[in-house]
Amino acid sequence: MRHIYSLAIAALISASSVSAAQYRLTSPDGHIVFTITNNAAGARYSVSVDDRMLIEPSAMGLVAEGVKWDYKKAKVTRSSLDETWTQPWGENTTCRNHYNEMAVTLGRKSDLTIRVRAFDDGVAFRYETAMTDSLTVTDELTEFRFAEPVGRSWSIPASFETYELNYRAIPIAEVADANTPFTFETSGVYGSIHEAALYDFPEMVLRRDSLGILKADLAPLPDGVKAYIPGRFTTPWRSIQIAPSAVGLINSALILNLNEPSKITNTSWIEPQKYCGVWWGMHLGTEVWTMGPRHGATTANAIRYIDFAAANNLQGVLFEGWNEGWENWGGNQHFDYIKAYDDFDIDSIARYCKAKNIELWMHNETGGNIPEYEAALEDAFAYYQSLGVHTVKTGYAGGFKGGYFHHSQYGVRHYQRVVETAARYQLMIDAHEPIKETGIRRTWPNMMTREGARGMEWNAWSEGNSAEYLCTLPYVRLLSGPMDYTPGIFDIDYLTAKADTGRIEWNGPNAHCRIKTTIARQIANWVIIYSPLQMAADLVDNYEGHPAFQFFRDFDADCQWSEALQGEIGKYIVVARRAGDKFFIGAGTDGEARTLSQPLSFLEPGITYRAMIYGDVEGNPASVAITSGLYTSADTLTISMAATGGQAITFIPEK
Ligand code: NOJ
Ligand code: CA
Repeated sequence: MRHIYSLAIAALISASSVSAAQYRLTSPDGHIVFTITNNAAGARYSVSVDDRMLIEPSAMGLVAEGVKWDYKKAKVTRSSLDETWTQPWGENTTCRNHYNEMAVTLGRKSDLTIRVRAFDDGVAFRYETAMTDSLTVTDELTEFRFAEPVGRSWSIPASFETYELNYRAIPIAEVADANTPFTFETSGVYGSIHEAALYDFPEMVLRRDSLGILKADLAPLPDGVKAYIPGRFTTPWRSIQIAPSAVGLINSALILNLNEPSKITNTSWIEPQKYCGVWWGMHLGTEVWTMGPRHGATTANAIRYIDFAAANNLQGVLFEGWNEGWENWGGNQHFDYIKAYDDFDIDSIARYCKAKNIELWMHNETGGNIPEYEAALEDAFAYYQSLGVHTVKTGYAGGFKGGYFHHSQYGVRHYQRVVETAARYQLMIDAHEPIKETGIRRTWPNMMTREGARGMEWNAWSEGNSAEYLCTLPYVRLLSGPMDYTPGIFDIDYLTAKADTGRIEWNGPNAHCRIKTTIARQIANWVIIYSPLQMAADLVDNYEGHPAFQFFRDFDADCQWSEALQGEIGKYIVVARRAGDKFFIGAGTDGEARTLSQPLSFLEPGITYRAMIYGDVEGNPASVAITSGLYTSADTLTISMAATGGQAITFIPEK
């Protein structure tokens, strides 16, 4: 177990029965105040920052069939914690978890407790039930009443099926519904509503009640019930991150801190990786998942990709379309999770991977057929383990059988079952079409990364992802945790695909699709979009011989320190990470060209670094300017970016 608690003070400050109807909790630094008031009508909470109201008295509570909670009586217990814990991988190896806590217990039978934590970077609360009988939850009352509905917000619409949606930057008052993270700014205070530790419960989205009031809405089961829970149950945390700047939201570990320590004792098999794969060709339409003349996952292609990975300091390779079942796509979704296509010699491929010290990934697209996948899970995972596999990419494209929403309690249970089963077979998970990240990677560190937003694939067969979208992602979706965006396309006009006579229009109007950024920005995304499993997503032919691929060769997906240095939501972002003795910077801009001044004070003092700078060439998005220079922590770097561009920098100590 790699968790080291360097400082753990869990002091019970007081435990007393009080009848007062107001309970106040302040953050350790005193800047944030969370207040609960309760009376016969129910419980409400408010949040203020530096004496200014952020969330006005807002409803709290759960609605369960046949249960009438008694909100009147209350007992409050208080405690606080200041600990530093470490994780096997993550943006930062160590995290400080520092909060004051109060638990307000309601009802003569103490059957509902509202537990609240106030941190310097936000607040969170959850409901804990203590009933003898199980509960049928039909609603959650939690509201977020914004004191300043004129404030700005950034979010995707609410959907119980997908997060692959575009952002809206609109005043809070105009938000009809939204998924979380829901990021906002009012009077210079930045915040983001989300949830943490989502287990055995539906996801929460937000819906407008009336002007400036967003209410929790839970993804229902087919019978309309939101959740069936045991009498003793703890809901996920409802969290509000708070920061004085937009990048402050990114530099917070609040969501992780709200999760429990790792349940996996031996984490030695869990390792970040850089990977490539047979993938982009299928989205472009030059290759296909099914066996036939344009099959991507053939033995010959596999060898080529493994050789490329081994020669370029990558650790893993993914092959989509390796297993039988893709011919059923679009009809009755059915996959075989063990049987490889005849032209994919899995045993020799696994042996070749081992010989080359490359991790073989397995791909499990389910098409939404959960009963079939769950029935196959144990055997498939045992088989993958026998092949020496440590990584599985899952996929849930398509509606779940039985009319269940992806994000319902049924879906949440399924995704969790996969994570826990995978842990028993020492498998890491990269989930596409997942349930949103709520920090469970702390507790289940084999839950490495997930999609859960519009990824690269959208550039192959839709209007694509704009540079503004990419400048919003870090401040919204990425607050929840790592994303497998599948970044780094170098052939931004798909020239290779266009030259391929076998190219089909399988996935839509590819002819006018292209990557909507410069290549330098594609490189910068490897740093900006944190993922412990980081892909070089292009066809390897497009990297071969390209001088700018040196960046990914030098890059390390296993960082120990990260900081978002500067940025504005939807406009630009600069992120730095350290892995071993190397530092990396990734910067990106929206549709505007920008020049930024970036102090390098995060570099190790007293060391001179050789910087390799991968920048834009004005007027030519497909060209990368590679320059080099010597820098120390006393220097300030000028980062110039073309419209839709970016810059990526490697700092390696000069020997
Ligand atoms: C959608 C995933 O996001 C993508 O990465 C994958 O290639 C397809 N589904 C097929 O599984
Ligand atoms: Ca997807």
